[in-house]
Amino acid sequence: MQERDPATVFAPFNLTLHDGREILVREIGEGDKASLLAAFDRLSADARYTRFMAAMRQLPESMLEQATHPSPEREFALVAIATETGAPVIVGGARYAAAPGSDACEFAVTVGDNWHGLGLASQLMRALVDVARRRGYRRMEGYVLSSNTAMRRLAKRLGFADTPCPDDATLRVVALALQGNEQ
Ligand SMILES: CC(C)(COP(=O)(O)OP(=O)(O)OC[C@H]1O[C@@H](n2cnc3c(N)ncnc32)[C@H](O)[C@@H]1OP(=O)(O)O)[C@@H](O)C(=O)NCCC(=O)NCCS
Repeated sequence: MQERDPATVFAPFNLTLHDGREILVREIGEGDKASLLAAFDRLSADARYTRFMAAMRQLPESMLEQATHPSPEREFALVAIATETGAPVIVGGARYAAAPGSDACEFAVTVGDNWHGLGLASQLMRALVDVARRRGYRRMEGYVLSSNTAMRRLAKRLGFADTPCPDDATLRVVALALQGNEQ
């Protein structure tokens, strides 16, 4: 396997939520399938809809497989792990993916319903932006339901521009320039 440039490597880290609880943030791995599925099962119907923009009762095997095997060249995914009653549990995640040859990547972020408002998504997004920037992407963008005020406020706080989606009035495009001053 090819060695990655040390400047673009991601190192796992611990963070403290606003309520004092500790979270480990690390790259997703193929061993995370069962805990990712469990995390999806715990999500409310609302959270699933705002994340996937579709009503989803189950996470299809193909999506689970893809989620736990990001392409090293074009994708990157983080999981946030809490230790509840002694066992590690996935309580959030953030990822980006880029089309082959593109200098723009698209993000997605999800935090378990019981963990909202503690600053977790903000910290996951900061880590994701940092990796994308170091790996040379020029722009990070996301498609967010217009009604998803939590995500839109969070994106704005992080410096993303929030504009209408030309093809779909129910969506907004939030975008951040990662290098220089372009938007
Ligand atoms: C949108 C989403 C990711 C936000 O996650 P979160 O972890 O609750 O986000 P944060 O805690 O970082 O920020 C949310 C709130 O916490 C507050 N907060 C953040 N940092 C804070 C701090 N240091 N002190 C006090 N409050 C803080 C923010 O003010 C924010 O509240 P506001 O947006 O109402 O003003 C989450 O609601 C979610 O997973 N939704 C479902 C999936 C989804 O919609 N994903 C986006 C599309 S890809």
